[in-house]
Amino acid sequence: PIEQHIRLEGQKFVRDDWTNVPESILSRIGKRLYHKPDHPLGILCQLIMQYLPAHDWLPYLSPITTPQHNFDDLGFPVGHPGRSKNDSYYINAGTMLRTHTSAHEVAAFGDGHERWLLAADVYRRDEIDATHYPIFHQCEGAFIIKDGTAATLLPAIEQIEMEIAGHRALVDDQSTINEAINWYQPHHERAEVDLLVRHLKATLNLLILKLFKRDGQTLQIRWLDDVFPFTSPSFQVEVFFGGKWLELLGCGIVLQRTLDRANVPGKLGWAFGLGLERIAMVLFGIPDIRLFWSNDARFLSQFETGKINQFVPYSKYPACYKDFSFWAPPEFHENDLCDLIRSVAGDLVEDVKLIDNFVHPKTGRTSKCYRTNYRSMDRSLSNEEINDLQKQVVAKALELGLEAR
Ligand code: PHE
Repeated sequence: PIEQHIRLEGQKFVRDDWTNVPESILSRIGKRLYHKPDHPLGILCQLIMQYLPAHDWLPYLSPITTPQHNFDDLGFPVGHPGRSKNDSYYINAGTMLRTHTSAHEVAAFGDGHERWLLAADVYRRDEIDATHYPIFHQCEGAFIIKDGTAATLLPAIEQIEMEIAGHRALVDDQSTINEAINWYQPHHERAEVDLLVRHLKATLNLLILKLFKRDGQTLQIRWLDDVFPFTSPSFQVEVFFGGKWLELLGCGIVLQRTLDRANVPGKLGWAFGLGLERIAMVLFGIPDIRLFWSNDARFLSQFETGKINQFVPYSKYPACYKDFSFWAPPEFHENDLCDLIRSVAGDLVEDVKLIDNFVHPKTGRTSKCYRTNYRSMDRSLSNEEINDLQKQVVAKALELGLEAR
């Protein structure tokens, strides 16, 4: 029988019909990988901190939050898909695990921080493959100044831009501030916002250069328009690395609503949020997101504080796949199946793919076939072990109302 309460970070929560956070997630809360100085995530955080020295580094913040802080305060509309049980983890109807570090913007500004950085674990229900994991990490940074004082930033901006000019960098700025999607906020002085945007772009370009620049190579950075409910104008930044464009971060001018909620009148500024795993995977050459959770010395011993060492895979163990075909009820959601598979197989599951999908012409019922790839990061799995895992997956799936074919 399932316990009635969830105990987490010294608190007790009552389960209800919103509860969907599985044990496999609960057991990982509080691990603070980004605080470990010789873990790739910790190394990356320290580098970011070092490259943005004027920013306060906020201390540990619990991932337990409310839809109010995670969504409402930031202006997410009522029907936004991120709010659904399919996309987010709820402890109960009023309590959830943060889906992004922006959930702390109001509190951070409200505490009086004007230049701050924060790293934290965030939680999203998603598919399973080498780059998706239901827990990942983000770093959020922000900078605000008194309204009407943006001109005082000019010397700092010029200095950062000069430093950038000293590197070989190609910045392709395709962003526009246009009324259709990327408007200036109504009460803002355009000249002020233009300066803050220039400061934001210079600051992030220099950070990206410091993180990604390799000797003798020109680094390409691309700025595009984006849309977030809590910034306007908003941008997205990409870097050309390892032969392709990599989406790095989202950012923009903080919406007045956020600062009002935080009770800091007369200020304006910018915020950005970046995914740490995505960056660490390319910088350190880590091929699978599960490795960040490895306790294997063959993984951990390869990294050193302050350095971006290239990961040398210690052998790829054989993978083994199993297919599962079933009739899916109309309310079937792929993320439910993925959580179920993780709850059985943990980090032994490498990816889950839909390989067949058809609607029966007469009955109208939908049949699906999912292929699960099992592979351990640190040992060979036996056939028996994999058969047993798959059996458990099928048994649990039937409990969930899926009908095996
Ligand atoms: N929170 C956004 C995300 O998770 C990123 C972001 C942070 C965008 C701050 C703008 C400002 O995608």
